[in-house]
Amino acid sequence: MFETLTPKPADAILKLIGEHQNDTREEKVDLGVGVFRDRDGNTPILKSVKKAEQWLVDTQTSKSYMGSRGDAVFCDAIQKLIFGDAASSDRITTIQTPGGSGALRVAGELILRAKPGATMWVSTPTWNNHVPLLGQAGIRLREYPYYDTDSNSLHFGEMMDALEHADAGDLLLLHGCCHNPTGMDLSVEQWLLVADLVVRKELIPLIDIAYQGFGKDLDTDAYGVRLLFGSVPEVVVTHSCSKNFGLYRDRVGAVALISPNADIAEVVRSQALSVVRTMYSIPPDHGAAVVSRILADADLRAEWLAELAEMRQRMKDMRSLLVAKLKEVAPDHDFSHIERTSGMFCYLGVSPEQVARLIKDRGIYLVDSSRINVCGITEANVQYLAESIASVL
Ligand SMILES: Cc1ncc(COP(=O)(O)O)c(C=O)c1O
Repeated sequence: MFETLTPKPADAILKLIGEHQNDTREEKVDLGVGVFRDRDGNTPILKSVKKAEQWLVDTQTSKSYMGSRGDAVFCDAIQKLIFGDAASSDRITTIQTPGGSGALRVAGELILRAKPGATMWVSTPTWNNHVPLLGQAGIRLREYPYYDTDSNSLHFGEMMDALEHADAGDLLLLHGCCHNPTGMDLSVEQWLLVADLVVRKELIPLIDIAYQGFGKDLDTDAYGVRLLFGSVPEVVVTHSCSKNFGLYRDRVGAVALISPNADIAEVVRSQALSVVRTMYSIPPDHGAAVVSRILADADLRAEWLAELAEMRQRMKDMRSLLVAKLKEVAPDHDFSHIERTSGMFCYLGVSPEQVARLIKDRGIYLVDSSRINVCGITEANVQYLAESIASVL
């Protein structure tokens, strides 16, 4: 049977990571990989996480099976993180999933059970796994323009025009905050206009919030989710703890399903649990138990919030530093859009040919679109980085 398969090309980012690793130049810089890194280039385990893990080692008494929903304490805590004061609503059902990817896949399967042949509108560009992941689940995908690479700003008018072509009941995938790959988010005014359109066209929002706390703060980053929750009867929210808790490999996430009323929410929960049962049965426990502990313990929570703020500040500082250096070495070019983006990513705003030269001539690794992870910038490499960018302009 396996002889019928043909090789799949390597993921662009994984390929880039491999090339960066094999590059022997000392001054090489990795702007590709999608994880937080500190000023020394490490992706550390948060101190709050280490303490919660120690607490688990000391107190956990069993590794027996859990239910398909995962840890109820975790689900409640994440629901509160996402919805704030509205979290107690009986319209919401939250289920623990293996990361944000697992949340998206569960959401995709559930959507197709409820609405076979469902259509979902996704931004161009979007996270490079949205299309394969949701498309493989069987959802029909259509694109709406989101980012204009000429002006390095949102294509907001075009986005709204495209969404006029959506049919009632179509799903609309939005990024809650820190849009991946562009880092360019909707403003409050734009969220309000999107909410109006969603109500008028009777669309169903699926909001992927994989970076809550990496933008402005936990509550501000959830603005769009909370707005749409209050505007329409049905919303799907997918959440990830990979970035904000640094639990990438522990696979911690959640899907929150919002129904028109509590009775439908009960049915939705039973169907979502059945989706989980048929896909992976039970989510992994460890990372979710860590998150539960951190969010429940006042001291650990305060420590985590401080660590989250520190990560956020580092990303902001590196953006400002790069823009300031670029202003010095390439005064005729405007890179100010970089400071208008948030989260880990933004587009540098150079062409694929210029990207190729940065890789070949300077050992600076980034994907063709010129998406960079600002965590790859450090005080030590920013001068070299800025001069290299200037050299290819
Ligand atoms: C927009 C977006 N959604 C979801 C995910 C999935 O995250 P996870 O690693 O938790 O599966 C990512 C990861 O990079 C992402 O950028």
